[in-house]
Amino acid sequence: MNTIYPVVWSNNKVLLIDQTCLPSQYVLVEISRYEDMAKAIKTMIVRGAPAIGVAAAYGMYLGAREVNTKERETFLKKLEDVAEILRQTRPTAVNLFWAISRMLKTAYETLGTVEEIKTILLETAQKIQAEDLQTCQAIGENSLQILPNNPHKLSILTHCNAGALATAGYGTALGVIRSVWTAGRLKRVYADETRPRLQGAKLTAWECVQEKIPVTVISDNMAAHCMQKGLIDMVVVGADRIAANGDTANKIGTYGVAVMAKMHHIPFYVAAPLSTVDFSLENGGLIPIEERDSSELYQIGDTVIYPDGVDYYNPAFDVTPAHLITGIITEQTTVKPENLIDLNHSKNYS
Ligand code: MRU
Repeated sequence: MNTIYPVVWSNNKVLLIDQTCLPSQYVLVEISRYEDMAKAIKTMIVRGAPAIGVAAAYGMYLGAREVNTKERETFLKKLEDVAEILRQTRPTAVNLFWAISRMLKTAYETLGTVEEIKTILLETAQKIQAEDLQTCQAIGENSLQILPNNPHKLSILTHCNAGALATAGYGTALGVIRSVWTAGRLKRVYADETRPRLQGAKLTAWECVQEKIPVTVISDNMAAHCMQKGLIDMVVVGADRIAANGDTANKIGTYGVAVMAKMHHIPFYVAAPLSTVDFSLENGGLIPIEERDSSELYQIGDTVIYPDGVDYYNPAFDVTPAHLITGIITEQTTVKPENLIDLNHSKNYS
């Protein structure tokens, strides 16, 4: 059973597993102030859509805790400022905005003293965290319904890291893989290395090794070859934001994997909580795509790998059109992308 928790509330502060240090070092970073939480999200000490939602929720509480007033209106105004700083960290994963909105809504709806609002904000952050863990487990459970009805063990390809590290624990895509493994139906995971930050090679592989799940890391340009060779039965990826029509933003390279899966008649699933669906966006073209620093591309560790004088383009995410997605596995059920709109919207706070 998974015991990897990237965000932990302990002794009045947040402990984050520093994901920039894995797999060579396991380092815990203590966060007591909301500005440090914003920095940790931006620099990807904590990353992955649901995990940054949880981190931002605690960031809101830390910010609330720092406000030194008994006056409700002044407190709420300062909390709006904290929310804005946290919103500026990463633009694509909607879970961040969803969690911040939920925290703000809670503050506005709580009638009581400022101290009482602060207490409820901490409880809400803890609730968001606990709910995400349960949601991931439900996604894993639901995924067992979509497995082919034969005793054959499956090789599943995944891209980036949508594991325990990217959520409150357990994971979405890697949560599916955990559940398939526990059900005795998994042969092997193929983890795309995931240039440029190598979340697949560093984080997905690390999680699999912790739990003795057989894992083969491939560089991103090997996925088509593996599909052509019949090594892949199914693809499961996570999501950072899903538009109302099912178009899905996820780590750069996901779209290419989906095209290749379609070409090879391999089912391509997205595993995501409903908090990742942005029903306010009609289609994926409206999803803001983060562009990150070019050093992620031209440097490996401290070594510069490109010649001087080249230009760079470093989008962190791409959008997979709904028609390439076999199904979206949520905590409620697995749906075809076009039927997403019929699911319960009640968890959408944005
Ligand atoms: O840039 P990252 O590492 O935060 O990107 C993470 C991903 O793209 C994940 O696949 C996604 O957030 C889903 S995590 C359950």
